[in-house]
Amino acid sequence: MDILTLGNDLLRQKAEPVRPIGAEYVGIAEEMIEALHAGKGIGLAGPQVGLSKRIFVVQVEGEAPRVFINPTIIGTSQDLVKYEEGCLSIPGIWAEVMRPAAVKVQAWNEKGRPFTLDAEGILARVIQHEYDHLEGMLFIDRLSVPKRDRVLLKYEKRRVRQHPPKA
Ligand code: NI
Repeated sequence: MDILTLGNDLLRQKAEPVRPIGAEYVGIAEEMIEALHAGKGIGLAGPQVGLSKRIFVVQVEGEAPRVFINPTIIGTSQDLVKYEEGCLSIPGIWAEVMRPAAVKVQAWNEKGRPFTLDAEGILARVIQHEYDHLEGMLFIDRLSVPKRDRVLLKYEKRRVRQHPPKA
């Protein structure tokens, strides 16, 4: 699975619910986890691999991969924390983003089994980042305008270096 990068319209679309959660989602989740490992990331959402469906996979250090289908964030903590985020769709860019420290999420796994999870720390962070992808939102949208302009400029410079224009 190839990972789409900033500029691809699919990353800006609201993803569709998965209905029903068919047997093919076992394979889709597996492929997404492989792409996540290949990209050395901790989370990957459907739209990032060209699948505009409400699914994401997450794997934080020391834990097994988790699959979230049709997730709803049903609760967030009052306290907010700053944490440095990156995104497989915006390679080479990191920025501090403020978000709730803990979340409660309800979702279904790749076998169609419902679950509820209380998450904090890095897990809460990545769940919120991936959930945003399902809404067509990227972490850079949560930065102040001057900060976003700075990171986008850095991203463009980096891209030009990697793909120099042919004369
Ligand atoms: Ni991302």
